[in-house]
Amino acid sequence: MLSRHVLLPPRLLIARRLIHSSRPHPTLRSFLDNSDEASQHSAYQYAHNHSQSEPPVLASIREAAVARDPTEAQKMVSPLQGAFMRHFVSIQRPKSVLELGSYIGYSTIWLAQGLQAIPGSTLCTCESDQTIAHIAEENVKLAGLADTVRVVNVPADLLLGEWDPNHKLDLVFIDANKSAYKRYYSMIINRDLLSENGQIIVDNVLFHGQVHTQATISNASNDDDGAKAARKAKGIARKMHSFNEFVAKDPRTTQVLLPIFDGLLLIQKAK
Ligand SMILES: C[S@@+](CC[C@H](N)C(=O)[O-])C[C@H]1O[C@@H](n2cnc3c(N)ncnc32)[C@H](O)[C@@H]1O
Repeated sequence: MLSRHVLLPPRLLIARRLIHSSRPHPTLRSFLDNSDEASQHSAYQYAHNHSQSEPPVLASIREAAVARDPTEAQKMVSPLQGAFMRHFVSIQRPKSVLELGSYIGYSTIWLAQGLQAIPGSTLCTCESDQTIAHIAEENVKLAGLADTVRVVNVPADLLLGEWDPNHKLDLVFIDANKSAYKRYYSMIINRDLLSENGQIIVDNVLFHGQVHTQATISNASNDDDGAKAARKAKGIARKMHSFNEFVAKDPRTTQVLLPIFDGLLLIQKAK
């Protein structure tokens, strides 16, 4: 007698195995999973070396930021992520882009460079810190992109609350206050700010690799090591998990969460 499995299409067989086995199917795993930090770094370097190279103006902005304050400079996307987002823009061809969280304009410039091939496209980026917003504006000018980019020194919630729903957004990059992602997302969707094929890219949704563990720890401890920074990171990770769950259950949108960079969530309206 034929086994029931033989009658199932291969895809269903794989799905079944995933449901019934605690071990992930090999195709769901990355070749990097079992490698040590050094080989992960060299794989990243290899990917970097074989991707669109970082334009000189961006390299000098990044290097100056790292020299000024290496810890703060970690707020910027990596050059590889910048190249990915520029590539994304060249495929999606958005006309109206909104970035929440400019910092000094590094990701802004990557995105805006992608927009140069799209006539009439604009990018608005917001930064709540006045001094930093000013630096972002200067960097945008330095990159020759002042005609495309508007830097506003306004908190993201305020900007979203006042955004004209008739001025639809084709692309939103969310990278501001990590604890407020659910609010940003809800404002965009509730106020119907996205165009029909609009996309949201959300950064840091796997926040330092701490988010997925929140999914399995029902009552995550708050005080194990006592370190303030570690507690803060855990708090952010918990909120990020709650955000990811919220989006995953929202029938108004579809999404794919990519375990690349610090975790990237791509969201669009449900079709
Ligand atoms: C991760 S950094 C952005 C990095 C930038 N997108 C890049 O990759 O080059 C987040 C920035 O958001 C700003 N920020 C924090 N809360 C904000 C808010 N409520 N509204 C706007 N900006 C905010 C912070 O001051 C910080 O500069």
